[in-house]
This record gives sequence, C-alpha cells and structure tokens, in this order.
Amino acid sequence: MGTPLQIEAYDRQAQTYAHRMGRLTYEAENQWWLDHLPGPTGLVLDLGAGTGEPARLMARRGHRVLAVEPSDAMRRMGQKTAPDERVTWLGDALPNLPELYRRGVTADFILINSVLIHLRPAIIPMVFKRLRPLLKAHGRLALLHRQGPAPLGRPMYPVSVDHVLNSALAAGLVCLDDKRVGDTLGRPGVSFAQMIFGK
Ligand SMILES: C[S@@+](CC[C@H](N)C(=O)[O-])C[C@H]1O[C@@H](n2cnc3c(N)ncnc32)[C@H](O)[C@@H]1O
Repeated sequence: MGTPLQIEAYDRQAQTYAHRMGRLTYEAENQWWLDHLPGPTGLVLDLGAGTGEPARLMARRGHRVLAVEPSDAMRRMGQKTAPDERVTWLGDALPNLPELYRRGVTADFILINSVLIHLRPAIIPMVFKRLRPLLKAHGRLALLHRQGPAPLGRPMYPVSVDHVLNSALAAGLVCLDDKRVGDTLGRPGVSFAQMIFGK
C-alpha cells in the first residue's frame, strides 16, 4: 500500500490526534450513529479508524470490530493506548480495500468517520462501488463527512456533500438519514454531514 500525502500527515500526528480524541463529550457527539448499531453479535468495520476511539465505542457495546487504518503510526497508537481484544487492526485503504476483499469480509455495520475528505473527488464513486458488497443485506453504513478549511498540516480535498450523496445513491445505496451539523469544537467554517445508508 502506498503512503500518499494524506496518510503521511497522520503518520506524523498520531500522538496529538489520540490525545485530542480523548475528550469527555466524545460518546455523546457520536450518538447519531451509535443509535444505528445492530444487536451486539455482528461484525462491524471502522474504515479509516484513526487511533481507534469509534472502534472502542463499538467494542464496548459487544461488537467484534475490524479497525481498518492505512497509517502505521495511527494503528500502532490505537493498539498501544487502549488495547481491546474485540478490536482487530488491519492495514488497508479505500477505495479498493484489497485486504478486506481478499478475506471475503461482509459486515453488519460500516463506519466511515471523517475519511472521504482525504480522497480525490474523482475516486468517491469507486469508494461506494467497493463498499456496497461489503455490507450485509440489512446492514447500515454511517458516514460523517467534514466540510470547511483543512487543519494545518493535514491536507484535504474539497469533496462536496452532494458529490458524496450522489455517488452513494449511484452505487445502489439508499439514504435513510441525512443531517447537517456544526462543529462541536467550534472551528471557524467547519461543519459536518451525518448520513446513514442501507441497501
Ligand atoms: C480525521 S481522521 C478520522 C479517524 C477516525 N475515523 C475517527 O473518527 O477518529 C481520518 C483517517 O482517515 C485515514 N485515511 C486517509 N486516507 C485513507 C484511505 N485512503 N483509506 C482509509 N483511511 C484513510 C487517515 O489515516 C486517518 O486515520
């Protein structure tokens, strides 16, 4: 797997990132997708898992989690700071996710939290074409998509919410919920789209 600019930035910032994610309000901020988790028997995928905070929220609810993260430093930080036997880490990357496909994985729930801004807009339709077969028939895909200026040292592409939504629909996913929210950290110009998809 290559290490493009976006992933190198996370290799450098893994420690700072893990520290910032430890805030007390974190679980409440993520309730919008936690409400859509299936019963605690399934396999869930956290794609672009960062240092593993969302993965651990799901593991605490009893799920087996496959935390997929291309940055070696972020994966190591996630394993070191809060190891959890229900979370398995895997180095793989969107859009093609070759390792997940090689293993024949299908999931009850997929989370993609603030990741698509790191992919060129032209690649986004391919992301959803590759994701759809990974989702079980009654599964859910939760997607948080960031809008606004990139933080210093973390390059991002201007991927519009409409482009994300249209690409998902074109791949045959159904949008079950779609909300726009402000930034809980109060960063100027930053907002998010919270979307839930099914098949
Ligand atoms: C803003 S962080 C979000 C991390 C995590 N989802 C969270 O909510 O804490 C973005 C993550 O996406 C990962 N990433 C960047 N390009 C990716 C790709 N092509 N496929 C999968 N993950 C990628 C980065 O390494 C980073 O860990």
